[in-house]
Amino acid sequence: MSRTPIIAGNWKMFKTAGEAVAFANEVKGKAEIDGVESVICAPFTALPALADALKGTTIKIGAQNLHFEDSGAFTGEISGVMLKDLGVHYVIIGHSERRQYFAETDEIVNKKVFAAFKHGLTPIICVGEKLEEREAGKTKDVCKVQTEGALKGLTPEQAAQAVIAYEPIWAIGTGKSSTAEDANEVIGYIRSVVAGLFGEEAAAKIRIQYGGSVKPNNVAEYLGQSEIDGALVGGASLEPASYIALVEGAK
Ligand code: 13P
Repeated sequence: MSRTPIIAGNWKMFKTAGEAVAFANEVKGKAEIDGVESVICAPFTALPALADALKGTTIKIGAQNLHFEDSGAFTGEISGVMLKDLGVHYVIIGHSERRQYFAETDEIVNKKVFAAFKHGLTPIICVGEKLEEREAGKTKDVCKVQTEGALKGLTPEQAAQAVIAYEPIWAIGTGKSSTAEDANEVIGYIRSVVAGLFGEEAAAKIRIQYGGSVKPNNVAEYLGQSEIDGALVGGASLEPASYIALVEGAK
């Protein structure tokens, strides 16, 4: 079963709408490569301008969060209905920064995954262990609990469409990336957890990315692994030339 590799830039809290448009104009036509899916996950405020700037290209846009309700008295929140309305395709859910700074639990992540599917958005679900969990030999246990928590109650068809990003927290923004072999082993394990929940077919289809200090010079090594279907990239996705090199490196 061949899975289309997916490179997703996670801009985090960087770039104004104007800066996003300038970036889009630089990467158009270049970060569009046959056989690689290219996604930019921008701050909410940049999404309308980015959607407009990328119209007619194959580059898709993603959000970095959503609320699980469609509407209501939730000051400061953004719903799946609103994202769909902008032409958003993807939404990152359960990033470790949201788990750490905004108290997102596996239950909340699960509700958000349901909200994404309800509105035709593809979730990019983040899982991964902290340094002390890795050192205690709990990497796989943590990933299992987070994967099961996030996917609970989905149909096998939905699970097959989801994207999971394995991001060991100690590798995020630190320049200390996991070795490709280690990441491949954990991702293969996550795939086996999906198989246990939804069967072999869904497990063979679901795309699982690696994230954590991915750069143009190491992306091909990750993508060359049998279980790794792409990368979720923070810092190295912010410069047009670097982003283009990441997409090229995934081919
Ligand atoms: P870096 O690529 O900057 O390490 O960030 C990884 C990340 O958190 C992507 O979601």
